[in-house]
Amino acid sequence: MKREDKSVMRVIAGESLTPPPIWMMRQAGRYLPEYKATRKEAGSFLDLCYNPPLATEVTLQPIRRFGFDAAILFSDILVIPDALGVDLRFEEGRGPILKPVDAAAIAKLDASKVVEYLAPVLETVDRLSNELPEQTTLLGFCGAPWTVATYMIAGHGTPDQGPARQFALTQPDDFQTLIDVLVDASSSYLIAQLKAGADAVQIFDSWASVLDEDQFTRWCVEPVKRVVANVRAQIPDAKIIGFPKGVGAFYKGYAAATGVDMIGIDWCLPMAFAQDLQKEVPIQGNLDPKRLIAGGTSLDTAVDNIIEHLNNGPLVFNLGHGITPETPIPHVQQMIDRVRMVC
Ligand code: CP3
Repeated sequence: MKREDKSVMRVIAGESLTPPPIWMMRQAGRYLPEYKATRKEAGSFLDLCYNPPLATEVTLQPIRRFGFDAAILFSDILVIPDALGVDLRFEEGRGPILKPVDAAAIAKLDASKVVEYLAPVLETVDRLSNELPEQTTLLGFCGAPWTVATYMIAGHGTPDQGPARQFALTQPDDFQTLIDVLVDASSSYLIAQLKAGADAVQIFDSWASVLDEDQFTRWCVEPVKRVVANVRAQIPDAKIIGFPKGVGAFYKGYAAATGVDMIGIDWCLPMAFAQDLQKEVPIQGNLDPKRLIAGGTSLDTAVDNIIEHLNNGPLVFNLGHGITPETPIPHVQQMIDRVRMVC
């Protein structure tokens, strides 16, 4: 099948499909026993990210089990700091731990070797482009410069990314240098993914919601706009999904300001607002992952609500954030059946 005929690609191009295509953020993950088994075989989480046969295998697992319309490359947004030489490990139950960067460390960062370092991930993309069912869209991804920077400054996840917000306000020049390195690294990494066979790419700005308007424009909109422009300078028809999670009213105008082709939305938006937004740009989202854990009518009514309000326009059905390990597998099937049945 030609790339532009795949369902997710058609929605990105502006078509409305019934039923809408469906995939889930973090669809390869710890809620699946087969993921846990492969993860154990690989050793650490990063070992899995850099093992092309096993990373390919875990990417394919949710496609085999559920027949999702898109597969997302198995990797992590923090492979970029790893490729920049920042010490990184993932601790069970604690998430990522990095060596925090200061002004001196930022000045030494060099984006020029990132693509070479990430060759195993690009090999995974290449394998996937050959092994996926022909109708399944292959999505590559990276973290947005702001979100990746928040982990690099704090050295770990925090409730409100206070350390990076403070750093950006008190040392804006050093922070700009960090963002510039991440713009370069992310651009070349996404270009390499698209050349290796990704059909489209998604930019995750998971921490975009903690900034005021001025800082949001400077650290979220501007850098993503530069990444999009850099990618399109090499690949003019590159399809790019933006996901500035939780930004509320700032969603308006985001696609036009950055140039992304589709935007991911979380569940904390009034449906009327989401419908308005969909007049600007195709939408991906936006089920609360907690409803997927709850199941029952709580899940069914939310699915119906999304379909009723957003499936008259271009929609890729998804969660508003990643699926979590405690989610019962039958609830995932319930969601998929409901989406395909109510349409
Ligand atoms: O299936 C997929 O969605 C593809 C793989 C993927 C992972 N991380 C695998 C992963 C993707 C797209 C990501 C993106 C990512 N990573 C984001 C952006 C999306 C979001 O969730 O907001 C962020 C902020 C990260 C950073 C990160 N990676 C954190 C904070 C954690 C710890 C939290 C957790 O869930 O454990 C990770 C670890 C991680 N990334 C896991 C997986 C499957 C769990 C690690 C494991 O298997 O032990």
